[in-house]
Amino acid sequence: MNFTIIYASATGHTENIAERLHQLIPRSELKDLDYIDHTKELTESDALICCIPTWNTGADEQRSGTSWDQHIDNIPATDFSNTIVAIVGLGDSAAFSKYFCDAMEELYTAFKKAGARLIGEVATDGYIFDASKSVIDGNFCGLPIDEDNESEKTEERLSQWAARITSQI
Ligand SMILES: Cc1cc2nc3c(=O)[nH]c(=O)nc-3n(C[C@H](O)[C@H](O)[C@H](O)COP(=O)(O)O)c2cc1C
Repeated sequence: MNFTIIYASATGHTENIAERLHQLIPRSELKDLDYIDHTKELTESDALICCIPTWNTGADEQRSGTSWDQHIDNIPATDFSNTIVAIVGLGDSAAFSKYFCDAMEELYTAFKKAGARLIGEVATDGYIFDASKSVIDGNFCGLPIDEDNESEKTEERLSQWAARITSQI
């Protein structure tokens, strides 16, 4: 089983992180969500890594501000019961400390409703932030990456997480 890495990005950070994961994970595929017309196309992969930034600060819905927002509406009505899903969130833990990587939770909840098997949760240790909707039962529901303030931590975060999730599929 191989991962398909799918990203949407407004200013390039998430795209860059998706490319780095593609380098780290053997036999992975890389796709830009903007070129995917129908949510159902995502079910063609057995295992997805979904990379999502947060732009709509404090919003109840459409938190990403990217093309993920449209797909999140469709995901719960699509059958993902044969799909493994891991999530990577891009955010800024200093300027948006009360809303750090909030969009991850929307994606997580949508895929849960669609029957997917979610993997790749991350302990909050080592992150400095006030609040995040993406903390579920004490852990982040995916891997938060902060290129605005902590880019020096990114390589280790990516490589440790990539090793963990590849051992789970
Ligand atoms: C206007 C604005 C709003 C933002 N809102 C949030 C936010 O609510 N939570 C967060 O963690 N990051 C927030 N960010 C930071 C971005 O998510 C971060 O820079 C991310 O790396 C951008 O990814 P992209 O370049 O792939 O679009 C915001 C940035 C800007 C400029």
